Amino acid sequence: MERTKFRRTIEYCIEKVDKGIETLELHYPASASVNGVYESIENIDWTNGFWTGMLWLAYEFTGKDKYKKEAMWQVKDFLHRIENHIAVDHHDMGFLYLPSCVAAYKLTGSEVGKKAAIMAADNLCRRFQEKGKFIQAWGALGERNNYRLIIDCLLNIPLLFWAYEETGIARYKEIALAHLTTSVGVVIRPDGSTHHTYFFDPVTGKPDHGETSQGYSDTSIWARGQAWGIYGLAIAYRYTKDPELIDKFKLVTEVFISHLPDDNIPAWDMIFTDISTIKDSSSAAIAICGILEMAKHWDLPDTYLKKADDMMNALIDKCLTSDIFGSNGILKHATYSMSDMRGVDECNIWGDYYFMEALMRYTNMSWNSYWD
Ligand code: GLY
Repeated sequence: MERTKFRRTIEYCIEKVDKGIETLELHYPASASVNGVYESIENIDWTNGFWTGMLWLAYEFTGKDKYKKEAMWQVKDFLHRIENHIAVDHHDMGFLYLPSCVAAYKLTGSEVGKKAAIMAADNLCRRFQEKGKFIQAWGALGERNNYRLIIDCLLNIPLLFWAYEETGIARYKEIALAHLTTSVGVVIRPDGSTHHTYFFDPVTGKPDHGETSQGYSDTSIWARGQAWGIYGLAIAYRYTKDPELIDKFKLVTEVFISHLPDDNIPAWDMIFTDISTIKDSSSAAIAICGILEMAKHWDLPDTYLKKADDMMNALIDKCLTSDIFGSNGILKHATYSMSDMRGVDECNIWGDYYFMEALMRYTNMSWNSYWD
């Protein structure tokens, strides 16, 4: 891809980060925009860490202290959140604490960031269920209606791998590996498509059934779940070097690639391949990052890299918010949830984050990721 195209796109992202800082007034963007504009929220959602991560990426792109300063008050705020147990009764500790606090620790040596991230890892460990050997995603622990894992958690367990490497405490790694083995065993169907969530029997711990929460149906292919699978398997392979994960990565990636519509921007659920279906551009951004991550650890087929390029070009050419007046978002045509019509064909903050991360990866292949 042309260097000037990347440079222009990075400049575009930085302008939007500046606009975010200006419009959010010491708050965080909501998970999804409304008409292309993020309203501001407190630090209470599973998505707050992406904004801090965008500030760290802006800091890495520009070297400007203003982004570091902005990110650092948020790192303190993330410590406050975990110390006071504010909206942390769920598994999304990796999404929250890797791009914010682990990034702060990696980039600046922040002890506040490290302390907050270790506390978040401890919180995640508390959700581990011995019966079934998985981290329970949502809801009251042990409750039959909530006794399930979700594919998204493949992006939360890297916090445990990181905590193990920092502290040497084996329990973090044991839980991460147990959850990984269980997830890979149940969420990936034989054809490489994926379940969004998978239930277990709370009495026996036996796998029970797959069910979607945000996809079209229990047998369809929720695009973002498939993308979490690609990126999660790449990170898991980086830690484990288990060759079985390469086979799973291939299966999951090939399903994603083969279900892309002609314009290379995924539909919100990949059983739809017509270009006119509502899209989820954020899934493409996640999948690109996953493919580029795997490229660091395994000599992957050129077809995967070619498709990552095609998706990246499509995002840059067709999904920037440049035609939305007053937008403080970056990537349009993302969809949070069709099941409750939340953030449909809007910007969402993880789409913006992973798009910036993809730009970082394309311009610096040896970038020290916040996720591993
Ligand atoms: N992890 C929640 C989502 O992808 O919507």
